[in-house]
Amino acid sequence: MDKINVVEVFFDDNRVGRVALTEQSICAFEYDTEFLKTGFSISPYYLPLRPGLFMASGSPFRGGFGVFDDSLPDGWGNLIFDRYLRQQGIAPEKLSVLQRLTLVGTTGRGALEYHPDKSVSEESAFVDFDKLAADSEKILTDEFSENSLETLYLYGGSSGGARPKVFVKIENKYWLIKFKATIDPPDVGKTEYAYLLLARKCGINVPEAQLFDNKYFGVERFDRTETGKIHTISAAGLLHADYRIPSLDYSVLLKVCLNLTKNMEEVSALFRLMIFNIAISNRDDHAKNFSFQYKNGVWMLSPAYDILPGSGFNGYHTTTINGQGEPSLKDVMQVATEAGLTKKQAETIIEQVIETCRKNNKLNYSIQ
Ligand SMILES: Nc1ncnc2c1ncn2[C@@H]1O[C@H](COP(=O)(O)OP(=O)(O)OP(=O)(O)O)[C@@H](O)[C@H]1O
Ligand SMILES: [Mg+2]
Repeated sequence: MDKINVVEVFFDDNRVGRVALTEQSICAFEYDTEFLKTGFSISPYYLPLRPGLFMASGSPFRGGFGVFDDSLPDGWGNLIFDRYLRQQGIAPEKLSVLQRLTLVGTTGRGALEYHPDKSVSEESAFVDFDKLAADSEKILTDEFSENSLETLYLYGGSSGGARPKVFVKIENKYWLIKFKATIDPPDVGKTEYAYLLLARKCGINVPEAQLFDNKYFGVERFDRTETGKIHTISAAGLLHADYRIPSLDYSVLLKVCLNLTKNMEEVSALFRLMIFNIAISNRDDHAKNFSFQYKNGVWMLSPAYDILPGSGFNGYHTTTINGQGEPSLKDVMQVATEAGLTKKQAETIIEQVIETCRKNNKLNYSIQ
């Protein structure tokens, strides 16, 4: 693959800035002069909107910036991405971050696009989900055919997360459809759907969702609308937090939420999500499973996603609660106080969420 020295970053056809690599493989970024006048900070803590050069650090994103790392595939996407590249005669381990960004090009999650654009993707409306699901399983067991690899790359090469998944456009709506990983029970799609409906009942903002073919969990993408793309950054990308390990506490996440959105309603919504994660025992609540979006000039919490029971880090919450991986009521209340919620507000949210989970037989952990 061609050597890439500079990658241009675009948002909504405006040039945001340029990324280059130092000899030590560290990314350097500079905003475009025009974007400095008319744009916004794409990553307020690490890339504030000001002139001059920003340098990334070696970790946790191998010399990259968090906001651009969010555009790259991880887990499943990487597996497909790397195998596809090998099939094309490209050694994935030799690719620089810049080359990877050009392969994402205009197809990444969120709204940022990268030029030169070397992406290939598929947006066809006709999708044989059973075939994709079966092919995904085969890929995971190494018995894959070259054709199915190409199809999975076209549909899901730039996706994030560990599970097999594809992006599809159906009747002008953009969907993310997930398939089961080898370790998942066969009905994981139904389970994720049921927990999404429960989250909605608990007052949590979740996207439209559907069970495709009555078994595959699909959610409408919140980073796409009929008219354009919405800038989205994960907590991991925003804070340069390593999402593979417990690098974050809810009390920090809630403070960041207030600092970024300047809105106590958003803090309250995130606290509700925390209580839900505790109640259903979603301990896989890592830093990439929370996101913020920049919409109409303000930052807000994204709709919730990936919310189903999960064992997390060694069985504990990956995002800790007052430093604990298995919280008590005291820990939960401490986080609420630090986030600026009143005792009454916190108690009301806890009560609503717990009672709704209990009524639906999905209270998997009791906060005492
Ligand atoms: N409705 C959505 N709209 C847009 N992007 C989404 C949506 N749901 C999830 N995503 C993005 O896709 C990524 C993967 O989705 P999700 O977390 O559901 O998958 P997963 O494979 O189960 O993840 P994990 O590795 O955390 O188990 C998320 O990190 C997020 O960036
Ligand atoms: Mg996830």
